[in-house]
Amino acid sequence: MTSQYRIDLFSDTNCHLSKGMRDYMMKADVGNEVAGEDPTVNLLLERTCDLLGKEAAVFMPSGTMCNGVSFRVLCKRAGDTIVLDKTAHALHKASGLIPGLVHANPQLIDGKRGIFTLEQVKSVLENPDGYNVSKPRVISIEQITNFGGGAIWPIQTLIDICDYAHKKELNTHMDGARLFNAVIASGVSAAEYAKPFDAVWIDFCKGLGSPMGAVLAGSKAFIEEAWYYKFQQGGGLHKAGILAAACLYGLDNNLPRLQEVHQKTKELSKLLSQIDGIHLNPDDTECNIILLEIVHPRLQASIVEQKLKNFGIRTLAVSSTTLRIICHMDITEKDIQEVYAKISYILETPDNV
Ligand SMILES: Cc1ncc(COP(=O)(O)O)c(C=O)c1O
Repeated sequence: MTSQYRIDLFSDTNCHLSKGMRDYMMKADVGNEVAGEDPTVNLLLERTCDLLGKEAAVFMPSGTMCNGVSFRVLCKRAGDTIVLDKTAHALHKASGLIPGLVHANPQLIDGKRGIFTLEQVKSVLENPDGYNVSKPRVISIEQITNFGGGAIWPIQTLIDICDYAHKKELNTHMDGARLFNAVIASGVSAAEYAKPFDAVWIDFCKGLGSPMGAVLAGSKAFIEEAWYYKFQQGGGLHKAGILAAACLYGLDNNLPRLQEVHQKTKELSKLLSQIDGIHLNPDDTECNIILLEIVHPRLQASIVEQKLKNFGIRTLAVSSTTLRIICHMDITEKDIQEVYAKISYILETPDNV
């Protein structure tokens, strides 16, 4: 990948495409995806259904489209409520997807690191019914959390929330952009995590390193309806097998590498937690995301972000005090040491850089 930064920690989408992946894409057998005739897409859908224990699936260009299409299917009418954490990616980083495209009403829960409890769900659903009250229709969670800092939802919390939601006749949706990070870190299978959910999707362009591509899965009836909105949103993909091949390659070759990515992220987190002026509990680093708080009289997170860019290192300031780091397969042991050294230097001698 061409990047002006030597060390790109902005996102795990910013890792290079390997030669092996490119070669595999070149050889992909392709067909008409819209007619269900692309053999490579069909193979990817079969593999994903097996992995997630779902009946049916559909290929999508992006995770954002998976969220948008799924929410459209799971909500019944304009103005319905989707319950989700206040940090949800679908809320903040999708150009107003929920109100703008789904025409739904987000109801936010103040979770901890992107994770909320059954009690919090109960308390937001306690509103009395009424003809002028927006109907709660969907509970959505992110496994792992992104702007929550890479936290893993405990499986029992997911089961309890989904059981309660189903008793209340709500649908459940999992944004699994980084579900495999949770699988690798916890040892809980993707199928176990996906089981309580009506809809779940996984992304191949994050930890698995494909150029793009996501798969949304659920029941046959759900996926049939999802196709309607996929077309409506311009998601008919024609010869998509060339992309599905990259996703298959990522599953077979890059999935096992997440373990090593997590180890390096934890190592960096430990190092950073020792720097004066940084608040970070290294135990909070469960996968490949670090959120660090800058506690400094003159350095805001955006200033640290800019100073790091001057050294060729890209991170993301997500608030005035918080810097986000996401590690991926390209990050080496040497990079970890360099990022630590540069952040220490900036905090210790802010006037020199
Ligand atoms: C948790 C989460 N959901 C959804 C998305 C959107 O995925 P995409 O970039 O494939 O549209 C992202 C992207 O980073 C994400 O982190």
